[in-house]
Amino acid sequence: MNDPRVVHSLDDVVEHGSVAICCGSGGVGKTTTAAVLAVQSARRGRRAVVVTIDPAKRLANALGLDELSNEPHQIDPARWDPKGERVEGGRLSAMMLDTKSTFDDLVTRYAATPEQAQRILENSFYRNLASALSGTQEYMAMEKLHELHEEGDFDLIVVDTPPSRHALDFLDAPKRLLRLLDNRVFRLLMVPTRTYLRVAGAAVQMFLHTISRVVGTEVVDDIVAFFRSFEGMEEGFRERAHRVVEVLAQPETRFVLVTSPRRDAVEEARFFAAKIGDHDLAVDALIVNRVHPRFGTELSAGLRSRADSLRELKVSGREATAARDRLSACYANLADFNEIAERERAHIETVRVRTGAAPVSFVPYLAHDVHDFEALAEVGRILFPDLPDRAGSEPTGAGPGQ
Ligand SMILES: Nc1ncnc2c1ncn2[C@@H]1O[C@H](COP(=O)(O)OP(=O)(O)O)[C@@H](O)[C@H]1O
Ligand SMILES: [Mg+2]
Repeated sequence: MNDPRVVHSLDDVVEHGSVAICCGSGGVGKTTTAAVLAVQSARRGRRAVVVTIDPAKRLANALGLDELSNEPHQIDPARWDPKGERVEGGRLSAMMLDTKSTFDDLVTRYAATPEQAQRILENSFYRNLASALSGTQEYMAMEKLHELHEEGDFDLIVVDTPPSRHALDFLDAPKRLLRLLDNRVFRLLMVPTRTYLRVAGAAVQMFLHTISRVVGTEVVDDIVAFFRSFEGMEEGFRERAHRVVEVLAQPETRFVLVTSPRRDAVEEARFFAAKIGDHDLAVDALIVNRVHPRFGTELSAGLRSRADSLRELKVSGREATAARDRLSACYANLADFNEIAERERAHIETVRVRTGAAPVSFVPYLAHDVHDFEALAEVGRILFPDLPDRAGSEPTGAGPGQ
């Protein structure tokens, strides 16, 4: 189990973590952060791999992921370390999670015979399942993590998580699979013959009847065939799901919670932090991405009243009046800006109380997307400033963030 009392810095994540899970709600910057962490780890001489999920097209191109490949491939160091500054031995690999092929590989691995594997892979219910079943992507992300972990080719595996509304499903996914395997209907569907199904009990028959009314009997036959072709494979799946849970709980696994400072994202981040706690795990680092800078130290209320009194100021002459109004507008503008920044910081506080001692790092709202190695390096410099005591402070130099 992760000991919640142990505080891990972001440096510790890339230097000593063996697994880093980047979680957070959709669009906050998980994929970006995952790539940055992997690059930083490789720069420190480690063999790092980032498992991305649906990366933005241009980032995928930069990572060399234009062809869908379900296996990690190494990225030319000249691309991510153009000045040759990395510690020797550093390697960066990336892959894009392909849920369907991960599932296929899993089936092939656990099938007793190639024929059994083929029967499943060709089943049309199965062919729709990989993308349709909720939680499949989450489970397959964990599955891939387990596979890479087992193979031992990497010092650090950084896992991006799906942009799902129920974003922590990946924690539950292995357990959910276990629940499915234990499910009564599933078990009955696994019984050897169709004939037996007829006497399997009113509940199952009713279940199948209801489904066939909606989707047609052919589909139901497919489903039954699908479950039946899994015969004998549950044990392998079950064991694997348990091992995934173990990997998540091992002490070298780090949870990096990513959020934006917006109210909705922060609310989800709080939920995540609580959920991680529910699993006896701890958030090891909190990254607040796309923070608005705060200019100066004066609070928005003060700036606003300055703008107001300036506007009231009696001046004579057109030019003086225009200058007064411009200055007043500037103060009002600054007040607006700082108000956003203050509100963001207030939102962040509400998640900080849930993440305990986890260090917090801030990444400002950049003027551009983070879609190439140059931008990844820029975010890297912000998250990993050279001065150790600046880590976790606001990178904009724009006043205290507490
Ligand atoms: N600090 C930032 N400033 C500006 N754009 C950013 C920043 N962080 C991420 N982005 C951009 O925002 C978009 C969403 O980020 P992404 O990492 O894909 O989020 P997620 O994986 O959580 O859905 C991407 O286009 C990314 O380049
Ligand atoms: Mg993403």
